[in-house]
Amino acid sequence: MKATVFLGGGRITGALAAGLRLAEDDRRIIIYDRHPEKLRALRRESRVEIAQDLKSAIQNAAMLIVAVRPASVKQMLAEVRASAERPPRLSMSLAAGVPLKSLRAWLGTVHWVRAMPSPVCRVRRGLTSVSFDRTVTKAERIQVRQLFEHVGPVLEIAERQMDVITAAHSPSHGYHALATLAKAAENAGLDRKTALIAAAHALSDGILYWRESGLGLDELLHEAATPGGIAAATMAAADKSGYARAVKRGLAAGIRRARLNAKL
Ligand SMILES: NC(=O)c1ccc[n+]([C@@H]2O[C@H](COP(=O)([O-])OP(=O)(O)OC[C@H]3O[C@@H](n4cnc5c(N)ncnc54)[C@H](OP(=O)(O)O)[C@@H]3O)[C@@H](O)[C@H]2O)c1
Repeated sequence: MKATVFLGGGRITGALAAGLRLAEDDRRIIIYDRHPEKLRALRRESRVEIAQDLKSAIQNAAMLIVAVRPASVKQMLAEVRASAERPPRLSMSLAAGVPLKSLRAWLGTVHWVRAMPSPVCRVRRGLTSVSFDRTVTKAERIQVRQLFEHVGPVLEIAERQMDVITAAHSPSHGYHALATLAKAAENAGLDRKTALIAAAHALSDGILYWRESGLGLDELLHEAATPGGIAAATMAAADKSGYARAVKRGLAAGIRRARLNAKL
């Protein structure tokens, strides 16, 4: 059986391999990386095979997933070309900001997919956004969707939206908001553990209720914030202090960073 082959055995590869195994997906996974200790850890954790070299990894690949950092993609693909092995027709890049046209230029013989998974795929709850090059067939699209649907929801988007969604859908927003709210509650008088419990409920209960109730955000805000009450005062002060501006600037910085990767 041919395998799903990851080039790069770092954080996101580890999360995806663990999520696929948690989903009881028993596909053959081969990982190639220049750090043997990372590969041994992945083998222990997720029953993956370690590629002995790049050539054998490509020989065994039904699908290639490029999971190196954006600045390393060009070199990684040069190594694929130099291996003189024919890569599988379906290949995917997880590299933030690296456009399909660069991928085509660096390795033109394959059908390219850009995917942006989340590390939350490890627990099968991570959103993955995907964008397909024109050459990708319907059957290949299904293959890609099926892979990521094992580890969370999949959103197909136009490539021009990829950098924005990359900056917008990272779970780091959740961790950042959680840390910031918990710290403020702690500074205001709660002990650390209670502050974290309170902040986690504030964020996750709101989202859970929004998802499950089918109500609009306006209706939920109306229900939670009595005019003249505590929630209303808290939100008004946060808005006045530039909450929306801070989020907008944060997002814009992430998008700029992703766009810089297109110039690598
Ligand atoms: N982390 C996330 O949450 C996340 C989510 C979605 C997408 N992504 C994307 O996924 C990609 C990987 O991110 P990551 O966080 O998993 O990175 P990472 O932890 O740094 O893993 C990349 C691995 O690939 C290795 N590598 C790089 N070039 C190589 C080469 N030519 N030959 C062999 N091994 C090579 C790296 O080794 P060295 O350290 O020696 O370079 C490293 O072990 C990035 O492009 C990122 O934009 C990440």
